[in-house]
Amino acid sequence: MARVLKVLEVPSPALRAKAQPVAAVDDDIRRMLDDMLATMYAHNGVGLSGNQVGVLKRVAVIDASGDGEPPRPYKLVNPRITGVSAETIGHNEGCLSVPKEYACVDRHVSVTAAYTDENGAERTLAADGLLAIALQHELDHLDGKLFIDYLTPFKRGRLLRHLEKRRKKEAEESA
Ligand code: NI
Repeated sequence: MARVLKVLEVPSPALRAKAQPVAAVDDDIRRMLDDMLATMYAHNGVGLSGNQVGVLKRVAVIDASGDGEPPRPYKLVNPRITGVSAETIGHNEGCLSVPKEYACVDRHVSVTAAYTDENGAERTLAADGLLAIALQHELDHLDGKLFIDYLTPFKRGRLLRHLEKRRKKEAEESA
């Protein structure tokens, strides 16, 4: 049975660390991927990286299927982007580690990725739409990068102050 893990939030140092490659896909990695998927679904997320649950390994899960569509989970080990479209698109992004804050970030419209699946097989993935955006967002996590890093210092500061304010308010309300 998969467990729902604790999701780390800014300013957790794990979110700023570079995750290390996975040497071999074993039962521990498979269990971790299942736990990460359960955690992502429990929080209605589109993606989740190892860094976000304090595991500094290059693992991520994504399900970019729309509401009412059948689930389409991806379990990614050592994912890397091998090609990108020149065309970019602005998308209003959020992140479970930067809760309830959203900002527009420019991403490549389509990307090609290579990864190892949960059975140790090498795979490639040609993605566009939300899946392409999620891939770029999750791969950034594995390098210690957050979507707020793309914002101007002014916008990033405003967003983080807003997050801090809401945390204080929620702490007061629950006290
Ligand atoms: Ni995120």
